[in-house]
Amino acid sequence: MKIIPELLLFVIVPFLLNSGNGIETSTHSINNRTPEKQPYRTSYHFQPRQNWMNDPNGPMYYKGVYHLFYQHNPEAATFGDRIVWGHSVSYDLINWIHLNNAIEPSGPYDNNSCWSGSATIIPGKEQPVILYTGIDDKKHQVQNLAMPRNLSDPFLREWIKHPQNPVMSPPSGVEVNNFRDPSTAWQGKDGKWRVVIGAQNGDEGKTILYQSEDFVNWKVDPNPFYASDNTGVCECPDFFPVNISGSKNGVDTSVQNPSVRHVLKISYLRKQHDYYFLGKYVSDQENFIPDVRFTGTSSDLRYDYGKFYASKSFFDYAKNRRILWGWVNESDSTQDDIEKGWAGLQSIPRQVWLDKSGKRLVQWPIEEVEKLRDKHISIMGEKLVYGSNLEVSGITASQADVEVLFELPELQSAEFLDPDGVDPQLLCSQEDASRSGIIGPFGLLALASKDLKEHTAIFFKIYRAPNRYVGLMCNDQRRSSFRHDLDKTAYGTIFDIDPNLKNISLRSLIDHSIIESFGDEGRVCITSRVYPSLAIDKDAHLYAFNNGSQSVVVSKLNAWSMKQAEIGREGNISYT
Ligand SMILES: *[C@@H]1O[C@H](CO)[C@@H](O)[C@H](O)[C@H]1NC(C)=O
Ligand SMILES: *[C@@H]1O[C@H](CO)[C@@H](O)[C@H](O)[C@H]1NC(C)=O
Ligand SMILES: *[C@@H]1O[C@H](CO)[C@@H](O)[C@H](O)[C@H]1NC(C)=O
Ligand SMILES: *[C@@H]1O[C@H](CO)[C@@H](O)[C@H](O)[C@H]1NC(C)=O
Ligand SMILES: *[C@@H]1O[C@H](CO)[C@@H](O)[C@H](O)[C@H]1NC(C)=O
Ligand SMILES: *[C@@H]1O[C@H](CO)[C@@H](O)[C@H](O)[C@H]1NC(C)=O
Ligand SMILES: *[C@@H]1O[C@H](CO)[C@@H](O)[C@H](O)[C@H]1NC(C)=O
Repeated sequence: MKIIPELLLFVIVPFLLNSGNGIETSTHSINNRTPEKQPYRTSYHFQPRQNWMNDPNGPMYYKGVYHLFYQHNPEAATFGDRIVWGHSVSYDLINWIHLNNAIEPSGPYDNNSCWSGSATIIPGKEQPVILYTGIDDKKHQVQNLAMPRNLSDPFLREWIKHPQNPVMSPPSGVEVNNFRDPSTAWQGKDGKWRVVIGAQNGDEGKTILYQSEDFVNWKVDPNPFYASDNTGVCECPDFFPVNISGSKNGVDTSVQNPSVRHVLKISYLRKQHDYYFLGKYVSDQENFIPDVRFTGTSSDLRYDYGKFYASKSFFDYAKNRRILWGWVNESDSTQDDIEKGWAGLQSIPRQVWLDKSGKRLVQWPIEEVEKLRDKHISIMGEKLVYGSNLEVSGITASQADVEVLFELPELQSAEFLDPDGVDPQLLCSQEDASRSGIIGPFGLLALASKDLKEHTAIFFKIYRAPNRYVGLMCNDQRRSSFRHDLDKTAYGTIFDIDPNLKNISLRSLIDHSIIESFGDEGRVCITSRVYPSLAIDKDAHLYAFNNGSQSVVVSKLNAWSMKQAEIGREGNISYT
């Protein structure tokens, strides 16, 4: 049944109106409510109604419908030993219809869990297929193939498993319990399909390549596609081309020509972060040569310098763009998750492309999220002298989208910093928002209580470095809540800035317990999970601030209250 959005609004609005009432600060009374009335439940981020969610799986666009599958424990708000593929569909990547689980344990090749994998659309046949990791009856990791039962069903509700499963078993030189997460396949000029799979052998982490003519019979390539010592297992490899022109358009996964370079993303389990490498795909040798190899230091490129893991991208041929999803886990305790009845969010889908510099990727929330923008506040040309706190009032600060452009003073006046060997997270906790600097700290205080005792500071500082200028972007959660049982890391990263930079931008998507921030037009991203005890619903405030001795000017600030997305079960969307 197709849901008619206009009608659903009437069902959802009463929930919005009720959700701000009766705020209690004890975690127990907060959590013991139906999920849709809990203060940390999000309003426009994707989450199932209840229970555990981790990795996004098999995202795709197929015949007018976006599909998102996800790792799900349908039994509990914690990870479990019978993980299935949850499944939801959407026409716009923002409003979602939850369907029944698509892939569940059913045979010896997956009866201990159905772990992550990817979708590939076979051109010509227009046939979507899924490769996923099964935890088999011996608890070994194997790769399995699944296909839609009925291609005429626009939602592809039912998936059947291939009789030849498993189609890949751990090859020699790969640990049987560290062989997982097949990527989307790409097709070489010889017509053969290729996928990469994450693996481990001792301390060595690797991505290994398989080839197939028919998607069923796969042959392992003896040489790793990319390997790194001392990293442990590579999870969720994602491999895709990007256009070197700096165009925001995406490139389909199989394209290989001189106008593209390639990105290999690896989720290193030991680090719990998603790292990406720009480099060259040497197709005749079937390997990937990154411009810079993994160093294990803060100079490695990451999609996000906060929480964002096990991400996966897909090419959206409807809008000719590449879209990235990432899992954003909780920062509270397992006990809190059990009381909330749920754990895990997906980021707002991000469009991703190569920066004009060719040195990093740019990420930006998909344009569809702007459809949720409601009440609007605008501030232009407001000077922030040292010590300023400018309240952005009149919007729902707990559920908002804010874009701000700060006009900078002359960069020559900046403090000196040699970033070599500096740990940005440490720097963010030393040079915090309350400590005065020269150019910065300036930025936003999100999910702030009226008295500012509680707030999450998302801010920049600009430094003069040897032969260049660098920015420090921080997301400091240390004052985000009076609760103690939370991970309150001060996240941060250091990045090169254009020496002629006059303005620096910051956009934050704030949604009750998540803040996704995009700095310098999306070149640096930091996502955090925060659980305020005071700054909840109508008691949340938003400020722009400067604690640098040099003034900065808010040359332009636009902020919007965000409407609730319609996310619910097919035929019953009256809850999220
Ligand atoms: C998995 O299948 C095997 C044999 O097919 C069976 O012995 C075992 O009990 C099953 N395990 C689970 C968890 O269903
Ligand atoms: C396939 O899906 C179409 C559209 O939903 C439906 O009309 C048809 O009955 C389905 N076929 C089978 C065999 O289930
Ligand atoms: C890359 O962008 C250029 C300029 O926009 C365009 O001409 C070219 O076709 C693009 N390449 C691919 C593979 O999309
Ligand atoms: C999940 O959250 C915990 C607690 O904040 C953190 O230590 C861990 O690194 C996170 N894992 C991922 C994959 O984000
Ligand atoms: C800015 O500095 C002043 C003085 O140290 C401090 O009171 C204020 O809280 C700081 N602002 C922020 C956002 O930390
Ligand atoms: C900063 O951006 C504003 C708004 O786009 C613009 O008016 C202003 O000229 C810019 N400032 C500088 C110094 O480029
Ligand atoms: C919709 O879902 C809610 C929550 O599960 C349930 O209480 C309600 O009965 C459902 N309504 C319909 C019409 O199915």
